[in-house]
Amino acid sequence: MSGLVVRDLRVVFDGFAAVDGVDLEVAPGDIRFLIGPNGAGKTTLVDAVTGLVKATGSVRFGDDELLGRPVHRIARMGVGRTFQTATVFEELTVLQNLDIAAGAGRGALTLLRRRRSVPVSVEEALETIGLAGLRDKPAGALAHGQKQWLEIGMLLVQDVKLLLLDEPVAGMSHDERDATGALLRVVSADRTVVVIEHDMDFMRSFANTVTVLHAGKVLSEGSVAQVQADPAVQQVYLGVS
Ligand SMILES: Nc1ncnc2c1ncn2[C@@H]1O[C@H](COP(=O)(O)OP(=O)(O)OP(=O)(O)O)[C@@H](O)[C@H]1O
Ligand SMILES: [Mg+2]
Repeated sequence: MSGLVVRDLRVVFDGFAAVDGVDLEVAPGDIRFLIGPNGAGKTTLVDAVTGLVKATGSVRFGDDELLGRPVHRIARMGVGRTFQTATVFEELTVLQNLDIAAGAGRGALTLLRRRRSVPVSVEEALETIGLAGLRDKPAGALAHGQKQWLEIGMLLVQDVKLLLLDEPVAGMSHDERDATGALLRVVSADRTVVVIEHDMDFMRSFANTVTVLHAGKVLSEGSVAQVQADPAVQQVYLGVS
């Protein structure tokens, strides 16, 4: 299993440093929550790690340097992310969505060949995300939470080893949140997971470690208890003075 090591990461938009010299280490198998107020730079950090925005500094996952590599190379190194809004193919079934994701790394010829059986990776992902019974349902007919799980499933079949999830439980019911937390625990057994989240109850229940970003910099880091007890966090993030 590999960990994530970010050094002096900087992303500048028109002279404005959205990410302003961030150092971050996420151990293999960790579930790290990345929190912070709106505009803190959380999504931009994930964009930099996944190659969507230009950045300086260093981002290593295992032995690989990610910075400067194109998006598809970074994906092939086992790095996958979700976005603040789910991106599944609504007209296709759950199974078809997973099948396409599983084929993302394969050649066109392989994809064209008719496959009679469901690949093992897809079968496993269906079980892990709890959608085995809904495999033939169109993704568009899924509940909000189930779509998010499908999206996580689409990363699992791509054999992603570093998962970066941008507000995965936003808009979810309480039960869906709990199910998502349980899913993260299963997934992190042999992967490294970074979760951007605003939901503090969810963080308290499922975070292993927490990093607080504020104005593009790391404000605080540690266990949930440590971060919550940090006066700087209380002042800046929770609005307590
Ligand atoms: N493409 C861009 N061009 C210019 N500025 C940007 C761009 N993307 C983000 N920003 C700015 O960078 C800062 C950080 O944005 P980012 O989306 O990373 O914040 P965030 O922590 O994810 O916030 P939220 O919790 O609202 O999702 C914000 O001030 C935002 O306006
Ligand atoms: Mg964001």
